[in-house]
Amino acid sequence: MAIILSGKEAAVSFKKEIQIKVKKRLAERKSAPHLAAILVGDDPASSAYVRGKVRDCKEVGFKSTLIHLKDDVLQEELIQNIQMLNSNSEIHGYIVQLPLPNGINEKEILLAIDPMKDVDGFHPENVGRMALGLKTYLPATPYGILLLLQFYGIETTGKNAVVIGRSHIVGSPMSILLSSNIEFGNATVTLTHSRTKNLEEVTKNADILIAAIGKPSFINKNFIKDGAVVIDVGINRVSGKLHGDVDFDSVKDIVSAISPVPGGVGLMTRVGLLMNTLLAADGRD
Ligand code: GUN
Repeated sequence: MAIILSGKEAAVSFKKEIQIKVKKRLAERKSAPHLAAILVGDDPASSAYVRGKVRDCKEVGFKSTLIHLKDDVLQEELIQNIQMLNSNSEIHGYIVQLPLPNGINEKEILLAIDPMKDVDGFHPENVGRMALGLKTYLPATPYGILLLLQFYGIETTGKNAVVIGRSHIVGSPMSILLSSNIEFGNATVTLTHSRTKNLEEVTKNADILIAAIGKPSFINKNFIKDGAVVIDVGINRVSGKLHGDVDFDSVKDIVSAISPVPGGVGLMTRVGLLMNTLLAADGRD
């Protein structure tokens, strides 16, 4: 029977650790870590993610501030809000929930975020620091996945890891981190994407497979080596039901471990963000 890599269980454990660190800060008369989020528009998935993040903050003793802007907000107004957060010393870190509406220049927005407060780790300075192995905010989803692997004691050193999907949010940073000389890195990594030929042949080599493609139940048993560890990053809503990128039933008797959807990586992403906010409160450098 495959081990279920429960994000729920791992998140409870990591959130307890964070709670203890917050209490220690308060006992030392330091302020509670304070996370802010900018949400533009009313996209249901984005609203749900942001509400989840606000709930998490409450649970671990962080302060949180939500700035909700209309979906016809002008680029300049959004930048003004970002500048306000940059200069507000009571806010340790913040995120701008993506995707942003058409007409907003996302690149310019990410560049306007103070890298010291960029708890998503999306600013080029922080992406560069991650690539160089310097202390920084790791993008929350890959960070959460590393914590999930750590929680279940899954060895990555020397393993063949295959990442499917090269997004800036998940696939690309995941490949960098898994190949880095860090704990829960040191894997031999292959990054695959929409132009990869013979994907099944490549993924059949994977001791660890990370699926981040955004195609419901795309990965079935034909893609999997016996005994592989499978991390499913997909959150695809099909007729109101959540599906991962992996066809769980097709692979469950072949894999040695698999993260479920829901109850897997999504909850760990939120832990990654909390960890980054704690780091922001202590100071990134
Ligand atoms: N949209 C999907 N994932 C993320 C994330 O990790 N951060 C932000 N800001 N937006 C997202």
